[in-house]
Amino acid sequence: MRTRLIAGNWKMHKTAAEAVTFVHEFRKVLSPSTSIDIVLAPPFVSLFAVQQAMTQEDRFAIAAQNLYWETEGAYTGEVSGSMLQDLGCTYVIVGHSERRHLFGEKNDEVNKKVKAALAHGLIPILCVGETLEEREAGNTQAVVKDQLLKGLSEVGVENIPTIIIAYEPVWAIGTGRAASVEQAEEVHAFLRATLSTEFGEISQDVRILYGGSVSPQNAEALFSCKEIDGALIGKACLDPVVFAKICGLADLAST
Ligand code: PGA
Repeated sequence: MRTRLIAGNWKMHKTAAEAVTFVHEFRKVLSPSTSIDIVLAPPFVSLFAVQQAMTQEDRFAIAAQNLYWETEGAYTGEVSGSMLQDLGCTYVIVGHSERRHLFGEKNDEVNKKVKAALAHGLIPILCVGETLEEREAGNTQAVVKDQLLKGLSEVGVENIPTIIIAYEPVWAIGTGRAASVEQAEEVHAFLRATLSTEFGEISQDVRILYGGSVSPQNAEALFSCKEIDGALIGKACLDPVVFAKICGLADLAST
């Protein structure tokens, strides 16, 4: 049985002070008996403040939204996996569609980031997803398969169960138009079948999250699907009450 995971991708939102306020408020509204994994991904500049605001009792972990694959050196503006690990990050989002489409990240760079994350003891959340054009041209499976296998190239099979995959159709991100349960289920099943062919039985342990306009309104239906192991959430993670509500729904679906 895979433990459900809900991750909140804050993107470029909240100052360090606002991030700390979020932690205090989220702690108050999150069910203390939650049995799922919960991840907050603030911007780099707030990671330290969030880590400092967290206590032993907190039922959530932190993620970075990106990393660079080198450990250190003359790479102005970049942040390495060892720095993130030192800051207390457990996870790191890799290959988010905004990185791919706004900042031109290619599959080979995403792959270097996945490997660097693992080398520094971070759990990569590898994002894949097709654009509307690619879906309408019937290329969804080819696109996500390519992103998945190239992203995981040369990753030792022993690391596969650790890695988290997020299926995020680009057309569903920030649009208020989530994929239907059927659309998500179909791609999730395809991703798992692709992992199984490539890595064998061990792929059953990989958690595959859905992302793209997840809200308290559609979360229950998405989490009722056995292929969906949780969610990567953008807009709806910025309000602690709303985010806690979605975490609660995932928890409920797990029992
Ligand atoms: P959204 O973003 O929930 O605002 O659609 C999801 C994401 O980009 O991870």
